[in-house]
Amino acid sequence: MQMQIDIITLFPNMFSGFFSESILKRAQEKGHMNINIHNLRDYSLNKHKSVDDYAFGGGAGMVMQIEPVDNCLSSLQEKEPFDEIIYTAPDGDMLTQGLANELSLKKRICILCGHYKGVDERIRQHLITREISIGNYVLSGGELAAAVITDSVARLLPGVLNDEQSALSDSFQNNLIAPPVYSRPADYKGWKVPEVLLSGHEAKIEEWRMEQSILRTKERRPELLED
Ligand code: ADE
Repeated sequence: MQMQIDIITLFPNMFSGFFSESILKRAQEKGHMNINIHNLRDYSLNKHKSVDDYAFGGGAGMVMQIEPVDNCLSSLQEKEPFDEIIYTAPDGDMLTQGLANELSLKKRICILCGHYKGVDERIRQHLITREISIGNYVLSGGELAAAVITDSVARLLPGVLNDEQSALSDSFQNNLIAPPVYSRPADYKGWKVPEVLLSGHEAKIEEWRMEQSILRTKERRPELLED
């Protein structure tokens, strides 16, 4: 099954780097994910192609208007509705591994990148199905958040990663942080790789990895163990 992600933005060029390299590139090339970027300005009906205006009641900052967003969403859903229309905002639901897992099961997702001081509240009330934040800080726009959401979902789609196990062993799956990994050389400047990893004893290695995962989670992210 191919997942479709449509991203609505005022800055389409921001995505070209992220989406044309590494795992996101492979996900698209292998046909697991189809990403389309739409320029919101193309859906403005006025001759200046404006998409923002002053806030009613005054105050600093421009507000993204509802009309171009509604036009764009209607046009993209002419043939088939989206399963989820996400608005990126610092006051949305926090993106977690659980939420990424949930989104990876959908077929058609749209992400509207927020900008300026915000969007007309009626967009959030009537057109959006979900609001997602990628952290408690304010970004200049929703593009980075949309790229983060897309990346976190793409790696979960079956077949995207070479070894399907590797998404399952990511940190946060099972509410545990992933164990440390090492590669050659086994001794670098006297900094040694744990002996057990060189032993070839699979069961012992697995046991060590699980212990390390639990230890790390206790030390670094104890709240994950409470869930
Ligand atoms: N837009 C601005 N800040 C954001 C954040 N932290 N998460 C998602 N979208 C945002």
